[in-house]
Amino acid sequence: MKKIRKGCPAIRVVMFPKDINGAGNIFGGVILSHIDVAGAVAARKICSHRIVTVSAKEVEFKKPVHVGDILTCWAEVTAVGTTSITTKVWVEADRDGKFVPVTEAEVVYVAVDKAGKSIPVASGLRDEKWRKKLGLSDGDKSAKKSGKAKSKSKGKTRRKCKSCGA
Ligand SMILES: CC(C)(COP(=O)(O)OP(=O)(O)OC[C@H]1O[C@@H](n2cnc3c(N)ncnc32)[C@H](O)[C@@H]1OP(=O)(O)O)[C@@H](O)C(=O)NCCC(=O)NCCS
Repeated sequence: MKKIRKGCPAIRVVMFPKDINGAGNIFGGVILSHIDVAGAVAARKICSHRIVTVSAKEVEFKKPVHVGDILTCWAEVTAVGTTSITTKVWVEADRDGKFVPVTEAEVVYVAVDKAGKSIPVASGLRDEKWRKKLGLSDGDKSAKKSGKAKSKSKGKTRRKCKSCGA
Protein backbone atom coordinates (compact mmCIF):
# COMPACT_ATOMS: atom_id res chain seq x y z
CA MET A 1 0.00 0.00 0.00
CA LYS A 2 1.38 3.41 -1.00
CA LYS A 3 2.06 5.88 1.80
CA ILE A 4 0.22 9.19 1.81
CA ARG A 5 2.63 11.96 1.04
CA LYS A 6 0.38 15.01 0.88
CA GLY A 7 0.68 18.00 3.15
CA CYS A 8 2.71 17.64 6.33
CA PRO A 9 2.44 15.04 9.10
CA ALA A 10 0.52 17.16 11.64
CA ILE A 11 -0.16 14.55 14.34
CA ARG A 12 0.47 10.88 15.07
CA VAL A 13 -1.64 8.86 17.53
CA VAL A 14 -2.04 5.26 18.64
CA MET A 15 -5.57 3.79 18.71
CA PHE A 16 -6.68 2.29 22.04
CA PRO A 17 -9.53 -0.15 22.94
CA LYS A 18 -11.34 2.57 24.95
CA ASP A 19 -12.41 4.17 21.64
CA ILE A 20 -14.09 1.25 19.88
CA ASN A 21 -17.68 1.16 18.64
CA GLY A 22 -20.10 -1.80 18.68
CA ALA A 23 -18.42 -3.30 15.63
CA GLY A 24 -15.04 -3.35 17.34
CA ASN A 25 -13.55 -0.58 15.16
CA ILE A 26 -12.49 2.87 16.27
CA PHE A 27 -15.46 5.24 16.63
CA GLY A 28 -15.64 7.77 13.77
CA GLY A 29 -16.01 10.69 16.19
CA VAL A 30 -12.61 9.92 17.69
CA ILE A 31 -11.01 10.04 14.26
CA LEU A 32 -12.86 13.30 13.56
CA SER A 33 -11.41 14.87 16.68
CA HIS A 34 -7.88 13.96 15.52
CA ILE A 35 -8.66 15.40 12.09
CA ASP A 36 -9.86 18.61 13.75
CA VAL A 37 -6.61 18.93 15.68
CA ALA A 38 -4.47 18.11 12.62
CA GLY A 39 -6.17 20.75 10.46
CA ALA A 40 -5.76 23.27 13.27
CA VAL A 41 -2.03 22.49 13.47
CA ALA A 42 -1.71 23.24 9.73
CA ALA A 43 -3.78 26.43 10.06
CA ARG A 44 -1.83 27.67 13.09
CA LYS A 45 1.40 27.07 11.23
CA ILE A 46 0.52 29.85 8.80
CA CYS A 47 -1.44 32.16 11.10
CA SER A 48 -0.70 33.25 14.64
CA HIS A 49 -4.31 34.12 15.53
CA ARG A 50 -6.51 32.01 17.73
CA ILE A 51 -8.77 29.87 15.53
CA VAL A 52 -12.04 27.97 15.93
CA THR A 53 -13.49 25.23 13.75
CA VAL A 54 -16.46 26.40 11.71
CA SER A 55 -17.01 23.33 9.54
CA ALA A 56 -15.80 19.82 8.78
CA LYS A 57 -17.06 18.55 5.47
CA GLU A 58 -16.43 16.00 2.78
CA VAL A 59 -15.47 13.58 5.52
CA GLU A 60 -14.91 10.22 3.95
CA PHE A 61 -14.31 7.15 6.10
CA LYS A 62 -12.77 4.89 3.47
CA LYS A 63 -11.60 2.02 5.68
CA PRO A 64 -12.15 1.03 9.31
CA VAL A 65 -9.52 1.90 11.90
CA HIS A 66 -8.40 -0.84 14.26
CA VAL A 67 -7.11 -0.94 17.81
CA GLY A 68 -3.30 -0.77 17.66
CA ASP A 69 -3.22 1.21 14.40
CA ILE A 70 -0.88 4.18 14.46
CA LEU A 71 -2.67 7.03 12.74
CA THR A 72 -0.84 9.81 10.98
CA CYS A 73 -2.91 12.84 10.02
CA TRP A 74 -1.36 14.70 7.10
CA ALA A 75 -2.65 18.22 6.70
CA GLU A 76 -2.25 21.26 4.49
CA VAL A 77 -3.86 24.64 4.06
CA THR A 78 -5.72 24.77 0.75
CA ALA A 79 -7.30 28.23 0.91
CA VAL A 80 -7.18 31.43 2.92
CA GLY A 81 -10.18 33.72 2.93
CA THR A 82 -10.86 36.98 4.74
CA THR A 83 -11.37 35.37 8.15
CA SER A 84 -11.24 31.68 7.27
CA ILE A 85 -8.54 29.09 6.63
CA THR A 86 -9.48 25.92 4.76
CA THR A 87 -7.45 22.76 5.30
CA LYS A 88 -7.40 19.30 3.83
CA VAL A 89 -6.56 16.38 6.10
CA TRP A 90 -5.61 12.86 5.03
CA VAL A 91 -5.48 10.08 7.62
CA GLU A 92 -3.26 7.07 7.18
CA ALA A 93 -3.11 4.00 9.43
CA ASP A 94 0.18 2.24 9.99
CA ARG A 95 -0.98 -1.34 10.50
CA ASP A 96 1.94 -3.67 11.13
CA GLY A 97 4.07 -1.72 8.67
CA LYS A 98 1.34 -1.45 6.01
CA PHE A 99 0.07 2.05 5.31
CA VAL A 100 -3.69 2.24 4.78
CA PRO A 101 -5.42 5.50 3.75
CA VAL A 102 -8.47 5.44 6.05
CA THR A 103 -10.10 8.87 6.09
CA GLU A 104 -9.94 12.31 4.58
CA ALA A 105 -11.77 15.56 5.21
CA GLU A 106 -11.88 19.28 4.61
CA VAL A 107 -11.89 21.38 7.76
CA VAL A 108 -12.44 25.14 7.89
CA TYR A 109 -11.28 27.38 10.73
CA VAL A 110 -12.04 31.02 11.47
CA ALA A 111 -9.57 33.42 13.08
CA VAL A 112 -11.11 34.99 16.17
CA ASP A 113 -10.25 37.58 18.81
CA LYS A 114 -10.45 37.01 22.56
CA ALA A 115 -14.19 37.59 22.48
CA GLY A 116 -14.65 34.90 19.84
CA LYS A 117 -15.43 37.44 17.08
CA SER A 118 -14.05 36.70 13.63
CA ILE A 119 -11.02 38.77 12.59
CA PRO A 120 -8.98 39.00 9.36
CA VAL A 121 -6.49 36.19 8.85
CA ALA A 122 -4.14 38.58 7.03
CA SER A 123 -3.15 40.43 10.20
CA GLY A 124 -1.76 37.23 11.69
CA LEU A 125 -0.46 35.58 8.53
CA ARG A 126 3.14 34.49 9.13
CA ASP A 127 3.67 32.24 6.15
CA GLU A 128 5.61 33.87 3.34
CA LYS A 129 4.14 31.63 0.63
CA TRP A 130 0.56 32.57 1.59
CA ARG A 131 1.42 36.24 2.05
CA LYS A 132 2.72 36.27 -1.51
CA LYS A 133 -0.25 34.32 -2.80
CA LEU A 134 -2.65 36.82 -1.27
CA GLY A 135 -0.61 39.76 -2.55
CA LEU A 136 0.04 41.11 0.93
CA SER A 137 2.60 43.86 1.07
CA ASP A 138 5.46 43.98 3.54
CA GLY A 139 3.64 46.91 5.14
CA ASP A 140 2.02 44.62 7.69
CA LYS A 141 5.23 43.42 9.24
CA SER A 142 4.00 42.96 12.77
CA ALA A 143 2.59 39.49 12.19
CA LYS A 144 5.59 38.48 10.14
CA LYS A 145 7.97 39.71 12.83
CA SER A 146 6.16 38.03 15.69
CA GLY A 147 6.13 34.76 13.77
CA LYS A 148 9.83 35.01 13.05
CA ALA A 149 10.68 35.99 16.59
CA LYS A 150 8.89 32.95 17.92
CA SER A 151 10.62 30.48 15.63
CA LYS A 152 13.99 32.15 16.25
CA SER A 153 13.74 31.88 20.01
CA LYS A 154 12.69 28.25 19.85
CA GLY A 155 14.98 27.32 16.95
CA LYS A 156 18.00 26.59 19.08
CA THR A 157 16.44 23.76 20.99
CA ARG A 158 13.80 22.48 18.56
CA ARG A 159 14.34 19.56 16.23
CA LYS A 160 12.93 20.08 12.76
CA CYS A 161 10.86 17.59 10.79
CA LYS A 162 12.94 16.38 7.83
CA SER A 163 9.79 15.94 5.76
CA CYS A 164 8.25 19.39 6.09
CA GLY A 165 10.74 21.52 8.00
CA ALA A 166 8.16 22.29 10.72
C1 LIG B 1 -16.72 30.87 13.69
C2 LIG B 1 -17.63 32.04 14.01
C3 LIG B 1 -16.92 33.03 14.92
C4 LIG B 1 -17.93 32.73 12.66
O1 LIG B 1 -18.88 33.72 12.89
P1 LIG B 1 -19.12 34.88 11.80
O2 LIG B 1 -17.88 35.65 11.60
O3 LIG B 1 -20.32 35.61 12.18
O4 LIG B 1 -19.42 34.00 10.52
P2 LIG B 1 -19.43 34.39 9.02
O5 LIG B 1 -20.68 33.84 8.42
O6 LIG B 1 -19.15 35.87 8.84
O7 LIG B 1 -18.21 33.55 8.41
C5 LIG B 1 -16.85 33.77 8.74
C6 LIG B 1 -16.01 32.98 7.78
O8 LIG B 1 -16.29 31.59 7.95
C7 LIG B 1 -16.71 31.03 6.71
N1 LIG B 1 -17.74 30.05 6.97
C8 LIG B 1 -18.85 30.21 7.74
N2 LIG B 1 -19.58 29.07 7.74
C9 LIG B 1 -18.90 28.18 6.98
C10 LIG B 1 -19.13 26.84 6.58
N3 LIG B 1 -20.20 26.17 6.99
N4 LIG B 1 -18.22 26.23 5.79
C11 LIG B 1 -17.14 26.89 5.36
N5 LIG B 1 -16.84 28.17 5.70
C12 LIG B 1 -17.73 28.81 6.49
C13 LIG B 1 -17.26 32.20 5.90
O9 LIG B 1 -17.21 31.92 4.51
C14 LIG B 1 -16.29 33.29 6.30
O10 LIG B 1 -15.09 33.14 5.61
P3 LIG B 1 -14.27 34.38 4.98
O11 LIG B 1 -14.27 35.51 5.99
O12 LIG B 1 -12.90 33.87 4.74
O13 LIG B 1 -15.00 34.77 3.74
C15 LIG B 1 -18.97 31.56 14.67
O14 LIG B 1 -19.71 30.84 13.70
C16 LIG B 1 -18.70 30.67 15.87
O15 LIG B 1 -18.33 31.15 16.93
N6 LIG B 1 -18.90 29.34 15.70
C17 LIG B 1 -18.57 28.37 16.76
C18 LIG B 1 -17.11 27.96 16.64
C19 LIG B 1 -16.75 26.90 17.65
O16 LIG B 1 -17.01 27.04 18.83
N7 LIG B 1 -16.12 25.86 17.16
C20 LIG B 1 -15.71 24.75 18.00
C21 LIG B 1 -16.54 23.56 17.73
S1 LIG B 1 -18.06 23.59 18.62
